[in-house]
Formats: sequence, structure tokens, C-alpha cells
Amino acid sequence: MLGKMAASVLEHGEDQFRNIFRLYRRRNPPPDLSQVIDFSRNVQHEQVFATELDSSRVHDEAASRAGLRPVKDWRAFSLQTHPGFLFISNPFLPGSQQHWVKQCLKAYPQKPNVCNLDMHMSPAETENIWERSVDSIRKKEKSRPKTLLEKLRWVTLGYHYNWDTKTYSADHFTPFPQDLHSLSETVAAACGFPGFKSEAGILNYYRSDSSLGIHVDESELNHTFPLLSYSFGQTAVFLLGGTKRQDPPTAMFMRSGDIMVMSGSSRLLYHAVPCIIPAPAAQPLPPCLDQRQEKQPVSGGIIQGVSEEDWEVCSRYLLTSRVNMTVRQVLGAGQTFPTTQSAAGESREVSESRSGYDEESEDAAQNAKKRKNESGYEADS
Ligand code: OGA
Ligand code: MN
Repeated sequence: MLGKMAASVLEHGEDQFRNIFRLYRRRNPPPDLSQVIDFSRNVQHEQVFATELDSSRVHDEAASRAGLRPVKDWRAFSLQTHPGFLFISNPFLPGSQQHWVKQCLKAYPQKPNVCNLDMHMSPAETENIWERSVDSIRKKEKSRPKTLLEKLRWVTLGYHYNWDTKTYSADHFTPFPQDLHSLSETVAAACGFPGFKSEAGILNYYRSDSSLGIHVDESELNHTFPLLSYSFGQTAVFLLGGTKRQDPPTAMFMRSGDIMVMSGSSRLLYHAVPCIIPAPAAQPLPPCLDQRQEKQPVSGGIIQGVSEEDWEVCSRYLLTSRVNMTVRQVLGAGQTFPTTQSAAGESREVSESRSGYDEESEDAAQNAKKRKNESGYEADS
């Protein structure tokens, strides 16, 4: 284990990303967060500059139908050091984040979508994850077995990502959710990428002690379209690095409603989520999640109201969780999957270890073990 690591250090210099990842993942003592960029505040950081998006790309009505504020009101930022990376500080209209949270917890885990629980359970058992969990979550018992919803770690949509081969394939596809495509098409267009096709989605479910290992998202067959990432619930630290593990990453908070766009030369950079920040006792849920819809939904809008009953479960779940939706276009315009699966993607180094949810890891055996743990069955109680 040390051998591979040592060899890599000798060859390329220190793995700065790993060092910093470990620093932020540490629990005792908790990490110093003073260097983490906070886009929700008045950012004064040498790397950060505000970016004016061209608001003529998306009409206010189209934004509103997708549950978003007018583009001219978005607070968007770029990083001097990472061209192509865009951070949009919560552009959601009041009440519309709740729709996405409900979809991630109640709708998207349903068949035919695929989730981590399917790896060790029968389809009959992973049907109705929501229904099987809500009664327990509603009760305020201190100690009880984890519900399926609390064991959920990832869901895939559209072209289902294969964690073992690190590929997508033509024969494992189910329809991509229309609402999430509408949102993503709108966000991509506002950022200068009209015609974005949402073809694959990976939803990540983080509990307070979860992390996401260092990786590059390079399995998509075309990288000219951006990768979109949406955050809901508790705040996370996100690390954005370079093209090499030796490049030290930049740390930033991802708060509920924030959207990240990785495009251009930032599309294939190393990144990771080392930790979830414990919610302040005085404010267990971000205030933007408490807001209800101000106006009647616009006609043709995709945001459905969430019932009080459903929101009670969602909000209780979010007290200790973060939900992240990532949306990818897999194929370029007119591109199709190669008929024989080539060894595409095999050239990469360690790291697409979503399997390494708990840590980035160096060797395959360790990875396989983690993947197993991740399904929740041997998980801590
Ligand atoms: C991913 C990813 C980051 C996040 O799904 O590929 O990097 O913010 N997610 O959870
Ligand atoms: Mn990623």
C-alpha cells in the first residue's frame, strides 16, 4: 500500500490534494475553516471574481418555470486559477429547493433508477424506499435502526454509471427525469451552453460523517458540455484541484441551493468533498429551505408544491444530511457509443472512487471493500 504511494511521491512530488483532503476530513480537532471561500458572504478573495452572466440567454419566464430567479439577479463567481469553473450562489426561487429535495428522496430512488441498495437487496426490497422509511423518520426516537432512506448513498439516472467498469453504456439506460433536464437545460443555457442534453445523473446522499473521495469525472464520452452540480441541505466543503494530485486544491463552502458548473478546462479537474459541516444548533436547517413558494407556480412550471406531510420527512432527514445532484451530457452531438466497449477510461489513475465514499483509496481491494460497506449493510449503527 505504501509502495504505490511512495513511488508516486518520488515520481511526481507530494500528493497535496490528499494532504489537504485529510486536513478537512479530520474530526478531532475539527479543521480550521478560515481559508474556505464562502460565496454566500461578500467574498474578498484574491482568486475570486464576480461574473456577469448574459441574462438575454434565458428569459425570466423560462427561469421562473424552472424555479429559478431571473438570471440578471444571479450571483455568479469564477476563480482566476480555474477557468471554466462557475459558482452560482443559490439562484433558486423561494420554495423551489423543496421540490428537488423531495424528488431526490421520494421520486428518483424509485425503479427503474438504480441505487446503492440494489447491490445487496432484491428489487422488491428496494421498491418504495420512501414508504418504508417515513414512519420511522417521523418518530422522534433517539435510537432506532437506520431506515433505507438513511442508508441511501447514491442513485443513478439516465445512462447508469457502472462503478466497476467506470463506463456508461448504451444498453443500460432509462429515461432521464424531465424536470431535472428542464432545470439543467436552463442553467446550462444561462452559462452559455445552449442545447445541453441531460443524459446521466449521479445523486449523492451524504450523512454528517460522509465524504466523497478525490476523483475526476472523465467517463463521459464528450467533455465539451459542462458538468452541473446542485447542493441541498447541510453545508459541505468542496475541494477543487488541478489536473495533477500535486496541485493543492482550493476549498469552498457549498450551501443549500448552490450550483457549480465545471466546464472548459475545469471540466476534468480533481475534486472531492472532505466533510459536511455540522449545522449550528441555533439554525439546524438553512433558512432558504424553510421558505415556501411566494407565488402561484407559473403555468408550464416544473416545480410542484411539496405537502406539509412530505416536507416534515424531508426536513427531518436534512437535519443531518446533504443531497447533491450532478447532471452530465455523456455523448457529443451526433455521437454514439462505440459498438465494442474499448478500454476507454482505463488510462486514468486512482480516483473515480465514489466507491471510496468514505475516503479516497489507493488499492482495488480496499475499494471493493468500501463499496460493500457503502451499501450500508455492515454500516455503523
Ligand atoms: C460527483 C461530485 C460533488 C458534490 O458527483 O461527481 O463530485 O458536491 N459531487 O457532492
Ligand atoms: Mn465529481
